[in-house]
Amino acid sequence: MKVENPSNPIGIFDSGYGGLTVLKEIVKELPQYDYLYLGDSAHAPYGSRSFEEVYDLTLECVKQLFNKGCPLVILACNTASAKALRNIQQKDLPILAPNKRVLGVIRPTTELAGNYTKTKHIGVLGTTGTVLSQSYPIEVSKFHPEVKVYQEACPLWVPLVESGKHNTTEADTEVKTHIDNLMSRSPKIDTIILGCTHYPLLIDTIKKFVPENIKLISQGEIVAKGLKDYLKRHPEMDAMCSKASSIEFFTTGETKVFDEKGSLFFGKGIRSKHLHL
Ligand code: DGL
Repeated sequence: MKVENPSNPIGIFDSGYGGLTVLKEIVKELPQYDYLYLGDSAHAPYGSRSFEEVYDLTLECVKQLFNKGCPLVILACNTASAKALRNIQQKDLPILAPNKRVLGVIRPTTELAGNYTKTKHIGVLGTTGTVLSQSYPIEVSKFHPEVKVYQEACPLWVPLVESGKHNTTEADTEVKTHIDNLMSRSPKIDTIILGCTHYPLLIDTIKKFVPENIKLISQGEIVAKGLKDYLKRHPEMDAMCSKASSIEFFTTGETKVFDEKGSLFFGKGIRSKHLHL
């Protein structure tokens, strides 16, 4: 992997490792751009934090990415997208950096998810923060008013993944409980959104307990295609993003731990630098 000092990379942000599952797909779809990933591992998980905490932390990380030259930042975290995106876009951006943009992951996911369901019953698995924000039902109703959304909060899934326990019997029990809860809300659910960027790491476990006829939607590919489309529709933003195929990783946590675990999420070795927040 080529690592250099790109001047205007696309910033990818997550509370920890989850966004790496999104970055992986973005790089496949758009390999020519420069990327700067920031994982706020020192403060993860965000899922159980208050609205104000998630907003403050996310805004601080966005500012850091702007300072490092990013003209465009993707919040590759559902919790941050649910709790901080709107405020940042409407309140902070016009003052901070009117020419820069911050995008989330919930909108592109909901736009497409309605096209997959035949029964018009969709399930969403997410963190407590994402579920309580009601962002998924609200966004789905904008694009697909006929679709019913059933949500299930899975507060232990991110801690399980972050602590590397996603392939254990503990994970099996935890995942089964929440899939059963979700399916008991409506037997008509035929599509389930993995509404947290950490959950692709649990996909094998999830598949064990989800009936085979149900479509599981991970966000990586959807967000990558959405970004490609966005850059096509906004040539002025595309022109601001540098293109030297480089990737840099930053963590607010321990770099050694981040590199070890992060490689699992990214699918290949990574080497991060520490960023103090
Ligand atoms: N990857 C984040 C998300 O998509 C996890 C949030 C957390 O840190 O709890 O919601």
